Amino acid sequence: MNESRPLFAPPRILMCSPEYFGIEYEINPWMSRSRQADRQLALLQWHGLADMLESLGVMIERLHPVAKLPDLVFTANAALIFKKKAVLSHFKHTERQREEPLFHDWLTQHGFEVLCLPEDHFFEGAGDALFVGDTLYAGYRIRSDVRSEQLIAAWLGCRVLAVELVDPYFYHLDTCFCPLSTDSAIFYPGAFDTYGIEVLQSSIPLLIPVREEEARAFACNAVVVGKHVITNTGAPQLQRDLRNAGFTPHETPLSEFVKAGGSAKCLTLRLDGENAAAWRESP
Ligand code: ARG
Repeated sequence: MNESRPLFAPPRILMCSPEYFGIEYEINPWMSRSRQADRQLALLQWHGLADMLESLGVMIERLHPVAKLPDLVFTANAALIFKKKAVLSHFKHTERQREEPLFHDWLTQHGFEVLCLPEDHFFEGAGDALFVGDTLYAGYRIRSDVRSEQLIAAWLGCRVLAVELVDPYFYHLDTCFCPLSTDSAIFYPGAFDTYGIEVLQSSIPLLIPVREEEARAFACNAVVVGKHVITNTGAPQLQRDLRNAGFTPHETPLSEFVKAGGSAKCLTLRLDGENAAAWRESP
């Protein structure tokens, strides 16, 4: 067992409250300045998610919100965390590049070794890179570069399986794919090409498909805490499928964040790693 991470350590998740959240630019097809988020409702929904996570034993760490950085709430995009290393994101859109120094400082101050990609390599953190067991699944093309993902796999010494994202509505991997355990995941097939689907199916023993209308309600954008799976409302079929597979689904309304193209998972960054269970077994 890793002595610095005792088995009883609570899961740690980074969140940033939505005081300055809003739709101030349009960098994905969900965002329209003419369809503003209700900030009061966003605050209520954000606290609803945070409270639910705390009730499941999660320790929430906070990043201070900053004016004029409306997407800073989406902490999943800060970095890819691997043990004590954090591969800092380098955003495709200049609007979000302004968040990078804040994520860099927070991670450094909290003891992570921050790794930075070359200037011409884009990468959007846990939004596009998720572990199933010790394989890193990486979504590329719309936001992150496949070259970044190859480099990261070399840095971290892990296997990477890069899958192309083909639908602009599912522009980050975490909008269409979510690991549930070291050998299971949910996914929305319409977000991948045929070969990407084959790669996922042949490498993940239990792969649960999500239907289109539920994927459009961000059902794949789930936060997993042990056997608990937390999503936005509007995914009754996925709830049934999760229960059948032995998980406990929870829904919490996140409509205001969907207007920015995000939901439960996007609002969180797991600091002890998405595959914490697997890491416990290795030094
Ligand atoms: N408006 C943000 C963007 O387009 C939403 C980010 C959602 N984050 C995520 N991990 N999928 O960048």
